[in-house]
Amino acid sequence: MFSLPQALNRLNAGLFSMKGEEHHAQQQLLRAALDDMRADTVDHVVTAAWQRFTENLRPFDDVPLLSEMRRMVLYTSSLLVFGDIDLELGRLIQSYFEQRRAISAAGMAPTLLQRRVLIQTGSRLDRLLRACMLAFRADAAMQTDALRGGMMGRLHATTTARAGATEGQLIAQAHTLFMSSSEPVAVSLTWILLILSQLPRLRYALRRELVEASERGDRDRPLLRAVIHEVLRLLPPNAIMVKLTTGPVQLLGHSLPPNCEILLTPFVAHRDSRDFRRADVFDPGRWYGWRPPAYAYFPFGLGARYCVGRQLALSLLVAILSSMLLRFDVVLAANQALDWKINITLVPAQEPIVRFLPAQLQHAAEGGRLRGPVADLLHY
Ligand code: HEM
Repeated sequence: MFSLPQALNRLNAGLFSMKGEEHHAQQQLLRAALDDMRADTVDHVVTAAWQRFTENLRPFDDVPLLSEMRRMVLYTSSLLVFGDIDLELGRLIQSYFEQRRAISAAGMAPTLLQRRVLIQTGSRLDRLLRACMLAFRADAAMQTDALRGGMMGRLHATTTARAGATEGQLIAQAHTLFMSSSEPVAVSLTWILLILSQLPRLRYALRRELVEASERGDRDRPLLRAVIHEVLRLLPPNAIMVKLTTGPVQLLGHSLPPNCEILLTPFVAHRDSRDFRRADVFDPGRWYGWRPPAYAYFPFGLGARYCVGRQLALSLLVAILSSMLLRFDVVLAANQALDWKINITLVPAQEPIVRFLPAQLQHAAEGGRLRGPVADLLHY
């Protein structure tokens, strides 16, 4: 079982595999592309993506929440990574990943037909990505327009200037950046909206915070940030990560050999009552004026492979949720029992079926009741 970036690294292994020095160099490049990202770029991206998302949103209809959130991040990631909203490339990357995920979840060798379809999708994706890289190379304008070139445009400009990465490496980076910036964000949005669907008073308080902040022209949203941190604590999308020891090491009294796999799981660590008061309870209030001890909270990983997109992820979540909560009450369409499962990421075991109801300023709408382990987190 791997975290999403690890799974992508393995998927990309045919193209290149990153270790030690090479990983560090690639990480520096990614950081440079991400550090250039300004707050107004994220706002601009989310505004454009939100407009496209709502064009095909059917308020009052029953819709599958996770699929809808994947549709939302298809727009944000297409803009962020490739600089435009032509969705073909993003859809193909998502579909390739889904095919790989379905095959590995089945736990048996893929059929001939599955292999054929996978190879066809992979080859088409490779052709499109190569064409896209050629266009970046030819497009001098991308250096002056941050949004149009997206992260890949900036990465291309930097690596070309430094005669750095090969075409294969850039293609692998594009693939990794797209999936890393879309799937965990879609999953986080799903968990956050699902939990809020059960807590109309909290949803209402969030809406008031957003209205008041926009009246003041203020970017600060402490309650929304606390809700995001608390959902990432209890339902971290990357619930399991695998680390490899580089040499012999002593850990908690055990002698471990080199190349020993260690499972690191924020899902378990975040429920440790030595670090978190009433650890099994959803309580965003814990984040006011409090920080968890070092190494106790790590939804974005730890150490050398720490998420380079952490700041971007938090900005995206705040911006997307601000748009959504101001305009809609997302409620369960009917009472629903729902389990969770790990399928590379920690996702709902069944699609939550929800309705987007236009928001009222005076109160927050109520919908169906949730049953199962997520609902159990909400019993104060
Ligand atoms: C809520 C959203 C996100 C979560 C929970 C998340 C979580 C993580 C975690 C846990 C890792 C480390 C995996 C490991 O140790 O093997 C990671 C790595 C990574 N993340 Fe994120 N991530 C999120 C959003 C993003 C975004 C928006 C980007 C933007 C590009 C991004 C890019 C990456 C990349 C490139 C890596 C690999 C870093 C490396 O190998 O050096 N992530 N992420």
